[in-house]
Amino acid sequence: MHFVQTLPLLAGLAAALPAIQQRADPAPAAVQIAEIAYSGSGCATASLAAQAVSDPTALTVPQKIFVAESGKNNSKVIDSRSTCQILIKLNHTAGWQFAVTKADYYGRVKIPLGVDSSSRTTYSFGAGSTEVAKQYYFVGPMDGFYYRNDRFVGTAMTYSPCGSGASLNLTSEVRVIPTGSGSSKPASMEIFNLLGGRLGISWKKC
Ligand SMILES: *[C@@H]1O[C@H](CO)[C@@H](O)[C@H](O)[C@H]1NC(C)=O
Ligand SMILES: *[C@@H]1O[C@H](CO)[C@@H](O)[C@H](O)[C@H]1NC(C)=O
Ligand SMILES: *[C@@H]1O[C@H](CO)[C@@H](O)[C@H](O)[C@H]1NC(C)=O
Repeated sequence: MHFVQTLPLLAGLAAALPAIQQRADPAPAAVQIAEIAYSGSGCATASLAAQAVSDPTALTVPQKIFVAESGKNNSKVIDSRSTCQILIKLNHTAGWQFAVTKADYYGRVKIPLGVDSSSRTTYSFGAGSTEVAKQYYFVGPMDGFYYRNDRFVGTAMTYSPCGSGASLNLTSEVRVIPTGSGSSKPASMEIFNLLGGRLGISWKKC
C-alpha cells in the first residue's frame, strides 16, 4: 500500500485513534534511478543519467507533452496516434521486486461529434513479465481537460522479475479515432504530463 500522501493526516489522527497503524511501507535500503530513456513519435528521444531517489515509494519521472491530431487539413489525417515509451532502470538492493501502484496523468481532449479518442498507458518489464494497462476512452463532442488516475492493487500489479536488472517500460499512447462523419474535422488529444512527475511504487521481497 502507498500511504505517503495521507501520512500527515493519519499522523494527526493517530493520538485520538490508536487503532490506526502507522507501518512504514517496506522498501530496500538503497534505491537509485540508474537511467531513464525516452523514445517514440510523441516524445523526443532522450536519456536522463542516474538520479538519486529520496523516497523509494515515489519515483520522479519527467514526462514530455505529446499530442495526437487528425483532420487538421480536410480529410488528411495527421498523426492520429502518438506514443511515448519511457524505460526506467532502477539500481536497488538485491532481493527485492517493485511494481507501479499509482500514476496520475493530465491532458486535454478536443474532439467533435463523430470522433472518439483514447489515452492508454501500459506498464511492463519486458519479455516474460505480465503487462498491465489502463485505457480511457472519450466520445465526441468533447472539449476539456481530463485526469487519469491509474491505480493497481493486489493481483492487478505487475512486479519486476527477481534478480534481474529489467527496466520498467511505461508506454503511453494517445489516439484520435474518426468514426465516420467526423473524419474531416479538426480533432486533437494530448497527454500533458504525468501529474507531479511521480510514480507510486510498491516493494516486496523476492
Ligand atoms: C548501483 O549500486 C551499486 C551499490 O550501491 C553501486 O556500486 C553501482 O555503482 C550502482 N550502479 C549504477 C549504474 O548506478
Ligand atoms: C493542406 O493541404 C493542401 C493541399 O494538399 C496543401 O497545399 C497545404 O499546404 C496543406 N496545409 C497544411 C496546413 O498542411
Ligand atoms: C514497451 O512496451 C510497449 C507496449 O507494450 C511495447 O510496444 C514495446 O516494444 C516495449 N519496449 C521494450 C523495450 O520492451
